[in-house]
Amino acid sequence: MLLKKLFKKRETGKKIAGLTAYDASFARLFREAGCDFLLVGDSLGMVIQGESNTLGVSLRDVAYHCRCCAAGAEGLPLIADLPFGTYENGHKQAFSSARRLLAAGAGLVKIEGGSQYAPTVRYLSERGVPVCAHVGLRPQAALVTGLRMQGRDQESAKQIIDDAVALSEAGAPIMVLEMIPAQLAGQITAAVGERTLTIGIGAGRNCDGQIMVMHDMLGVFAKPPKFSRNFLASCGSIAAAAAQYVADVADGSFPGEEETLG
Ligand code: KIV
Repeated sequence: MLLKKLFKKRETGKKIAGLTAYDASFARLFREAGCDFLLVGDSLGMVIQGESNTLGVSLRDVAYHCRCCAAGAEGLPLIADLPFGTYENGHKQAFSSARRLLAAGAGLVKIEGGSQYAPTVRYLSERGVPVCAHVGLRPQAALVTGLRMQGRDQESAKQIIDDAVALSEAGAPIMVLEMIPAQLAGQITAAVGERTLTIGIGAGRNCDGQIMVMHDMLGVFAKPPKFSRNFLASCGSIAAAAAQYVADVADGSFPGEEETLG
């Protein structure tokens, strides 16, 4: 199984560290810095293409960056985002989009959404496509929710827990928790248990691991989110910054109090 090393790392009590990457040079550098996995995120719409959200990213865009990354990832688990509009229209659409990303070098595909996508996750998993789920803030739903923290009240927190459990039971071995309170992330991590690794971004420490958008880790994005840290500022080189990020995640010192929302 592709994520075997990550599950083993959790067993030893160490946290898992992932970064987004969009090309071979950074993929190689992050692998050499000790990253546990890479994500070709549709955040590329914002950090590479300069758009204000991720909605215009195409399957072709993700496949292109995936192919670039795969050349540097060399065996590291590579997750690729299914962009907005490429999986919502039924299982067959999701399968054919996923197939394109696997052909471009991805090992898993990521789907943003709640329990309504549990049948899609099951359909893909049963056909050999491992799926990374993504709950909490879903940037692809930005026109409806805005890009703000989710799960603040009891009702929405319960909904996110129910979503996470349904996606985990449907077969997602790994799940991104984005911009939710740390306490809720801890409840989700406990609820999905051994089946699913939880990876936080703006979700505090109570996850099995963390992911950062590489441009935020390097402090080069114009509007970094409050929960991010510029590792390059104190490290002097990109390689050292990535290695420091991995070390700080592994020992639990990132995210700190100041990078924890809510
Ligand atoms: O697109 C992306 O980079 C993501 C991360 C924020 C998890 O989904």
